[in-house]
Amino acid sequence: MGPIMAAAVLGLKSHTDPAWTKVALSDEIALLRDHAHLERKAAGHMITLMGQVQGAADRLLENAREELDHFARVSALLAARGAEPGKDPGNPYVQAVAQATGKSLLDRVLRMGIIEARSYEHFTLLGEAAPEGNLKRMFLELKDSEAGHHAFFIGLAYEHWPRATVREHWDKLADAEAEIVAHIEWGPRVH
Ligand SMILES: [Fe+2]
Ligand SMILES: [Fe+2]
Repeated sequence: MGPIMAAAVLGLKSHTDPAWTKVALSDEIALLRDHAHLERKAAGHMITLMGQVQGAADRLLENAREELDHFARVSALLAARGAEPGKDPGNPYVQAVAQATGKSLLDRVLRMGIIEARSYEHFTLLGEAAPEGNLKRMFLELKDSEAGHHAFFIGLAYEHWPRATVREHWDKLADAEAEIVAHIEWGPRVH
């Protein structure tokens, strides 16, 4: 990178070190298992929000369906490797972000938005770093869908809460998330 740091993507406050991809890709089955469960849980959170955010059930359902399609796609890559998602060990990054951030509805909407943004960044890095093959193609094809989910959640927040409130909560959340990313132990995981 040149002397001027490129702006971090999608409102994130940090860049992931591209060296992270080497560790993430060191065990494809472990990476895909973590990924499958993240897609499944994203769909689950969207379905939960259908009962909590007014006037957004159809759009949340549409996004949840996309996440379930992603889950199926990741599961197929696991099946091709003789594996399955199996039991979910939990993802330390998502757990840390959930613990570090507020429990209000706005915070939960924005938390979805920031995890989608980091997924977009990580899928982009993984898509660039992975060797030619179905894993690389999958990351490059899914990344834009995750960026779309990020935009959806940010839009949803602005629909329901005042701009200044959304900005203030996002700012706090993005600071906490960048701090978590800086200290999380790297492993064969999407995050
Ligand atoms: Fe997804
Ligand atoms: Fe997503």
